[in-house]
This record gives sequence, C-alpha cells and structure tokens, in this order.
Amino acid sequence: MDSKFLPLHSILAYVALGVLLIAVINAIIGVTSKSLFKPKDRSISLVALIICHVQLVVGLLLYFDSPKFEQWSLLGMKIMKNSELRQLLVEHPVTNIIAIVLITIGWSKHKREESNNGKFKKIALFYLLGLVLLLAMIPYKQWLG
Ligand code: HEM
Repeated sequence: MDSKFLPLHSILAYVALGVLLIAVINAIIGVTSKSLFKPKDRSISLVALIICHVQLVVGLLLYFDSPKFEQWSLLGMKIMKNSELRQLLVEHPVTNIIAIVLITIGWSKHKREESNNGKFKKIALFYLLGLVLLLAMIPYKQWLG
C-alpha cells in the first residue's frame, strides 16, 4: 500500500514545477526587457515560493509515511546499493530540500535589491537553479509510468 500522501505529492509536483517555470520565464523576460518589477511579478514569485514550501511539507510527511521508509531499518546503509531506493530515500529528498532552500534565498535576496533589474535577476537566477535541481531528481519512471 502506497502512502496516503503520495497522490497529493504527485499532483502538487505538476503545480510546483509549472508555477516555478512561469516564475522563471517571467523573471527572465523582466531582466531582458528591463521592465519595472510590478506587484504582478511579486505575486508570481510568491505563489511559486509558497507552493514549493507546501510541497516540502507534504514531501516530509510522505517520507516518513511511505512504506519505503521501513527499508532504512531493514537494510540500513545497504539502501545506497539499490538505485531506486537510493533515489527515493536519499537523492530526491536531499536535492529537493537544497533546491527549495535556494528558491527561498532567491526570494529573500530579491527583497533586498533596490533596482527593478536586480530584483528580476535574483529571482531568475535562484529560481532557475532550484528548478534545474528539482527536474534532475524527479523519479520520472515512478511518476509517469
Ligand atoms: C518541489 C519539490 C518536490 C517535487 C516537485 C517532488 C516530486 C515528486 C514526484 C513527482 C514523485 C513521484 C510521485 C509518484 O510516484 O506519483 C515524488 C516521490 C517522492 N518524494 Fe518528492 N518532490 C519534491 C520534494 C520532496 C521532498 C522535500 C521530500 C522529502 C523530504 C520528498 C519525498 C518523496 C518521497 C519519499 C517519494 C517516494 C514516495 C513513495 O514512492 O512511497 N519529495 N516526489
């Protein structure tokens, strides 16, 4: 039996990746067109941040509720020899926590920037880095298969 949190985590993944992509594209357009950083730009970046944080909480609940978590007590560090368990129990959670930390740093750095272009640049850089890390560690086979 899969964890009860898996369907929510699975659907929120589409939302989080989609909104993050919109925020990155919006920030890159803002940098290149030297636009004013308007309330709409702040809202898009904030919604992406909030959804990532919700996904982080759901991910943590899923981690400890997933039947795969029991493998830690059965196999211990031998988990690292199993590529599927290593991805789901180590690589995916650790990388995604780092990605969400980077996105959060980008959000706080944009607030300290005075210029419109500086604000867009901080969002574009840190959100893009976060998005690349997230995309690199999605268990695609399990998610879409
Ligand atoms: C924005 C961040 C994240 C995204 C986009 C994401 C996305 C995904 C996706 C698409 C799956 C496969 C779902 C399925 O099979 O239907 C998955 C599985 C999983 N995720 Fe995440 N995740 C994120 C963050 C996290 C975090 C922070 C943790 C833990 C701290 C976590 C723990 C897990 C676990 C344990 C599984 C496998 C559960 C199982 O198969 O029983 N995820 N994630």
